[in-house]
Amino acid sequence: MAEVVIVENSRAAGDLVADAILSLIASKPDAVLGLATGSTPLPVYEALAARVGDIDLGKVSAFALDEYVGLPASHPESYTSVINREVVEPLGLVPERIHVPNGATETIRSAGADYERAIHEAGGVDLQILGIGSDGHIGFNEPGSSFASLTRVKTLTERTRSDNARFFDSPDQVPMHCITQGLGTILRARHLVLLAFGEGKADAVAAAVEGPLSSMLPGSAIQLHPHTTVVVDEAAASKL
Ligand code: GLP
Repeated sequence: MAEVVIVENSRAAGDLVADAILSLIASKPDAVLGLATGSTPLPVYEALAARVGDIDLGKVSAFALDEYVGLPASHPESYTSVINREVVEPLGLVPERIHVPNGATETIRSAGADYERAIHEAGGVDLQILGIGSDGHIGFNEPGSSFASLTRVKTLTERTRSDNARFFDSPDQVPMHCITQGLGTILRARHLVLLAFGEGKADAVAAAVEGPLSSMLPGSAIQLHPHTTVVVDEAAASKL
């Protein structure tokens, strides 16, 4: 069973997870972080930026969970842009060490295997930050994703497209496809840290932590991992 930590608010969660990341880096300067996008992990990145001071992050590398397919990397809402803006620049990470799956359509056939290889060559992810979608998806592994899946192209559900429409000028601008680490990829990380805040995530959190293992509830895959920490506020924990 995952360790569940209930905190007062997202800021407290950010502080807690930032401390865990900095203590990992203190013991392993070349730590490999797994980054998530969406609004949930932002307090972690903000707390890290506030604390990093003169800690040397020059050897840290990171792998993002996912990317839209067919959105130019230069688009402000591509996850490449988001990771640069929210993480790489504020923390002063070395851009060459930060990886996001390649969503360019020309190379999409090999992009999944290329990404798996890069994670493997970096020694695997030490600490993977996860958010969770309202339908229980992690990364962009929508309901129906195999627990053994690796990085691959997926079709976004209408629900996820409408959840993410707030980042775009109009809902029809949200891409139809994405490339995402698979559940199997995520489960290889050495420590999973799933965050969720607000009542809208309560069903997804309960299903992930206590529900039956089901590919229709992709978040339930965390139950297969021996070291998972779930950091939630009271509202997100309300259905546990
Ligand atoms: C997107 C991301 C997920 C994220 C989810 C939840 O779909 N691909 O990694 O967990 O959104 O987003 P938010 O944290 O904004 O609720």
